[in-house]
Amino acid sequence: SDIGKGTYPFYMLKEIDEQPTVMRKLISTYADENGAMKVDAEIVKAVQEADRIYIIAAGTSYNAGFGAKIMLEALTNTPVELGVASEWGYGMPLLSKKPFFIFLSQSGETADSRQVLVKVNELGLPSLTVTNVPGSTLSREATYTMLIGAGPEIAVASTKAYTGQIATLAFLAKAVGEADGKEEAKEFELVKELSLVAQSIEATLSEKEKIAQIVKENLLTTRNAFYIGRKQDYFVAMEASLKLKEISYVQCEGFAAGELKHGTISLIEKDTPVLALISNNPEVAAHTRGNVMETVARGSSAIVIVEQGQEREGDDIIVNAVHPYLSAISMVIPTQLIAYETSMQRGLDVDKPRNLAKAVTVE
Ligand code: G6P
Repeated sequence: SDIGKGTYPFYMLKEIDEQPTVMRKLISTYADENGAMKVDAEIVKAVQEADRIYIIAAGTSYNAGFGAKIMLEALTNTPVELGVASEWGYGMPLLSKKPFFIFLSQSGETADSRQVLVKVNELGLPSLTVTNVPGSTLSREATYTMLIGAGPEIAVASTKAYTGQIATLAFLAKAVGEADGKEEAKEFELVKELSLVAQSIEATLSEKEKIAQIVKENLLTTRNAFYIGRKQDYFVAMEASLKLKEISYVQCEGFAAGELKHGTISLIEKDTPVLALISNNPEVAAHTRGNVMETVARGSSAIVIVEQGQEREGDDIIVNAVHPYLSAISMVIPTQLIAYETSMQRGLDVDKPRNLAKAVTVE
């Protein structure tokens, strides 16, 4: 059937492998053959009218919100604020005059997110749910829906929904920016750039053996680890660390690389794995590299995931370069494989980690 595992040992690996297809499918869903955006005009209009966008989500979807924020702010000029659903349920901060809410939820059933949506509806405010599940609760109760169309995600640890959410919101960001007449939005060739992302993902997927070896050498017995990065790499670091925690039970923190020295670096000991994400941003790449060296000087075993075009060293994991707006999609792929391999090589149940459920329908 559609949702069988086929020859895969775990759904998670199958779902990781499906990501190039998910990207290409999104292109055909949200763009026409000439590359023009096919996003519901009513949604575009509603976002255009907003003076601030609030993204509400939990878990991996919350991390995807950061990846989307970069593009929404750059292409629409509208400030974007993120909210952890379980916190916002207690009360929302002071809202702007014309808010627009985006609920990001793979399942569309997360109770924490829903309780915020209930309040948003009570206030009569417009909302959009971006979800992988048509007809889900959050989809039905929000004003608008955009579907990710990634196909069923069975593994508890979310992979293709994260990348699919960011890509879906890229289409929205471009459509709104174009409607606003923004040059940045017109110049951003999303269809072409997302095709390159699909290719970059494929290239990373062909590096599975190298990544498995790196995991074997660095992550098999450790109890803790760090992911570091700056700017868009920091957002990916948060998702990468969540993924590793969820399925391998390694305590891992995703950290802004520059913030490490303000306290957390005291935790670095001999052989503590420090995984650094360095995408093509000359402004920050050298700084993150410097932060890696600071941890190496304290005994860390460093693993660097670097985007092509940056200076690199022998064992670095290379990711094919993509447009900076979309690097949260391509840079997360090796981290998904690292989490997968760590869990698998430790003999754990990759798809069904202890204490976790795919959709949490209690608050
Ligand atoms: C659960 C899952 C996470 C997921 C989170 C939000 O906790 O274990 O993997 O990220 O819910 O789920 P949603 O369906 O709202 O994206």
